[in-house]
Amino acid sequence: MRIRVTPVSRLEGRVEVPGDKSISHRAALFGALARGRTEISGFLEGEDCLNTLEAIRRLGAEVTRKGPGHYLVDGAGLDGLGEPADILDCGNSGTTARLLLGVLAGQPFWSVLTGDESLRRRPMGRVAEPLRSMGATVVGRDGGKRLPLCVGGTRPLKAIAYRSPVASAQVKTALLLAGLWADGPVTVEEPALSRDHTERMLEGFGARLEIERRRVTITPGGELRGQPVAVPGDISSAAFFLVAATIVNEARVTIANVGVNPTRAGLLDVLAAMGAPLARVPAGGTQAAEPAADLTVTSAALRGGEVGGELVPRLIDEVPVLAVAACAADGVTRIRDAAELRVKESDRIHAIATELGRMGADIVELPDGLEIRGGTRLRGATVHSAGDHRIAMALVVAGLVADGSTVVDDTGCIATSFPGFVQALNALAGRPCAVTSP
Ligand code: S3P
Repeated sequence: MRIRVTPVSRLEGRVEVPGDKSISHRAALFGALARGRTEISGFLEGEDCLNTLEAIRRLGAEVTRKGPGHYLVDGAGLDGLGEPADILDCGNSGTTARLLLGVLAGQPFWSVLTGDESLRRRPMGRVAEPLRSMGATVVGRDGGKRLPLCVGGTRPLKAIAYRSPVASAQVKTALLLAGLWADGPVTVEEPALSRDHTERMLEGFGARLEIERRRVTITPGGELRGQPVAVPGDISSAAFFLVAATIVNEARVTIANVGVNPTRAGLLDVLAAMGAPLARVPAGGTQAAEPAADLTVTSAALRGGEVGGELVPRLIDEVPVLAVAACAADGVTRIRDAAELRVKESDRIHAIATELGRMGADIVELPDGLEIRGGTRLRGATVHSAGDHRIAMALVVAGLVADGSTVVDDTGCIATSFPGFVQALNALAGRPCAVTSP
């Protein structure tokens, strides 16, 4: 599939974005481990989260779809999962694979995990290694560092205190989940605080956690209890409209009910520092122990800035579209400390530098980030998503402000996180500025 984008001069209106991907995965998985029923509303029906639902079904949870984004998960309890009959396919989803590794490490049976071509290239050693030191058997490709991986669970696992070399919520979550079946407390310490959805939600499910900023400890014992979970909109999906509205000539866009957990909302801070007029009105009620807000943004002249350090994990998935904002800003934007982007669904540093470069951007690839000199007008070109949903959507946004039309190739991947992206964008433009063709 490809998307042809024609430039727009106006974006206007109110949109909703689909449910948060990270929170949807966790609601399904924790629901499967809990006793009783977890009723989820606003679940993201993108391919990644549907892969998690399919995996928990195969492990023995009962999943009922009641309507769009509305699911009931009747959990198997901490002792109730069963050996899956066949290989569990995580598709494109790193979160599904890594979180499941943590769960499967504590099960008294064998399971095999695989994924698509992109996921089979991505590092799994960061989770497999500490799980091995807890006593699990994790074997497979590349010395047990890449999918397909075969997991021979052990119960109980050994308690550990693990200092993770990367700020990764997937690593943190996998180990905390494994800790549910450990013989003592499991502590994970990370170099910078990664998204804390797991901590918030697991506490709601009744897990015993001690949280001291970058260090979290889970104490096993007891059980998880099913909970209602209302998933807020995904700030990583909202990001495309936030940037689009900022850089298009005349725009005023409101994105309703977006999750604004501070560990995820780094883009809002950076856009505000770059000069974007951003307003947030808190959305009523607490959802999945997460703050949510209606975000309104209008077009503005942006200025470049520095992005690095502890801010990076708070906006890691938004860097591709932030690079597009930087192209429209005055001055230089330097994004550092983001080498993790090289091991996402694609090498995002390379992909965004190459493809925005094709559109005439003054952008240089750094080992751990990007340097972008803004202010040069982009020109329409044929660009490629590298099979990566966030690259695809960032390039569509770039096409909105380019001269001439832009063709973004290989865009089927958008369905992993944001089915309906093109329709929502066209609604804001008031005309089909983005047209999909096979
Ligand atoms: C996620 C954590 C992040 C993020 C990914 C989702 C999660 O990955 O990039 O899209 O749901 O835990 P890492 O844990 O690898 O940093």
